[in-house]
Amino acid sequence: MDKVRIGIIGLGNIGRFHAGYLLDGKIDRCELTAVCDAFEKATVPYAEKGLKTFTDGEEFIKSGEVDAVIVATPHFQHTTLGIAALEAGVHVMVEKPISAHKADAERLISKSKEHPDVVFGGMFQMRSEPRYQKIKQLIDAGELGEIVRITWIDTDWFRSDAYYQSSEWRATWKGEGGGVLINQCLHQLDTFSWMFGMPAKVRGFAQLGKFHDIEVEDNITAYMEFANGATGTFLSSTGEIPGTNRLEIAGHRGKLVLDHDKLTFIRNEVSADEWNKTSKIGFAQPDQWTIDIPFGDADMPHAGYIQNFVNAILDGAPLNVPGAEGINSIELANAMIYSSLIDQTVELPLDAKAWEDKLNELIEKSQFEKKVVEAPKEDFTKSFRK
Ligand SMILES: NC(=O)c1ccc[n+]([C@@H]2O[C@H](COP(=O)([O-])OP(=O)(O)OC[C@H]3O[C@@H](n4cnc5c(N)ncnc54)[C@H](O)[C@@H]3O)[C@@H](O)[C@H]2O)c1
Repeated sequence: MDKVRIGIIGLGNIGRFHAGYLLDGKIDRCELTAVCDAFEKATVPYAEKGLKTFTDGEEFIKSGEVDAVIVATPHFQHTTLGIAALEAGVHVMVEKPISAHKADAERLISKSKEHPDVVFGGMFQMRSEPRYQKIKQLIDAGELGEIVRITWIDTDWFRSDAYYQSSEWRATWKGEGGGVLINQCLHQLDTFSWMFGMPAKVRGFAQLGKFHDIEVEDNITAYMEFANGATGTFLSSTGEIPGTNRLEIAGHRGKLVLDHDKLTFIRNEVSADEWNKTSKIGFAQPDQWTIDIPFGDADMPHAGYIQNFVNAILDGAPLNVPGAEGINSIELANAMIYSSLIDQTVELPLDAKAWEDKLNELIEKSQFEKKVVEAPKEDFTKSFRK
């Protein structure tokens, strides 16, 4: 194969966005040949461009029309369609989250292990943002020394009631498996686990429908503890205007602060733990240097990830984010909401079955009546850069 015939399943906000740059020829050695959406009307503009169209995802995967697919449906179908693609030998890029909950993610990952020659990627393009690349580079280089505290206020995810009413699946236990955690701030939870690893314990305090007429959480404050004793707090919300994106990482050797578009490193001349043990006086601190760290913008991060996916298929290039890594953000999201609902601290690894059972109970007992109002199409891509 010297050119990948790619298809998209799910032609909503993000599916149409992927289709746009693929049709514009932005990806080398790749052609969008066919698309699929359960809602036939969504496929019509693509049929008019000469693409093959389908309304059943599994039939589409088995059709022989595509070598690879992007799964861009609501969350629960990521697992079923991902598994169908892996079984059919069709390479698959699954949109975030890779599944609606941890037990489903385990099923998907276990299927991918049975098919190691089929490429399985996760769309976690936020990791390619230069600000996060810089932070990871500084952490990995040991510039901060041992990390002792992480604080991330990530409330820059405002959504209106019109957003929630725009489709049946949104912000329901049954359609989405949760709210702000499994959908919006999942990107930051992925970036968090990539930069800092996984905590050992999580205590969540979530509020369901605090700002919106929805049954799932739209506000979360979580406290975490890592095996080395470092602590973390993570806050997110879809109800605040203006929102905040402020990440503060305190280490023995200094502090790194990302505040929206500004990244600052305050470096200690002598590391805090050494100063603590050696200083002969009580209040003084070592000298500190403040360094502003410049960074640019990622150039079409989603397209970059699809180019990497194509290169992985054709050349065996390493994936930016192997699909299996997608379980970490789901585990954090699930642990935060599960802990909130049972009003207890949970230890990680999270008991996947316990959360799946709880989620199924929430789905069964739901009395929520979802109001759906078709919203005018708008440019949602402004919400990408965080
Ligand atoms: N990586 C990113 O930056 C990013 C951005 C937005 C959304 N997403 C993810 O993409 C997914 C879709 O989000 P969206 O905002 O585009 O949703 P959406 O509701 O706008 O679109 C979903 C589409 O999937 C179709 N669909 C539903 N079930 C299907 C099935 N079984 N087979 C085929 N088509 C089906 C629907 O008809 C709809 O057109 C979500 O999981 C979301 O988290 C990722």
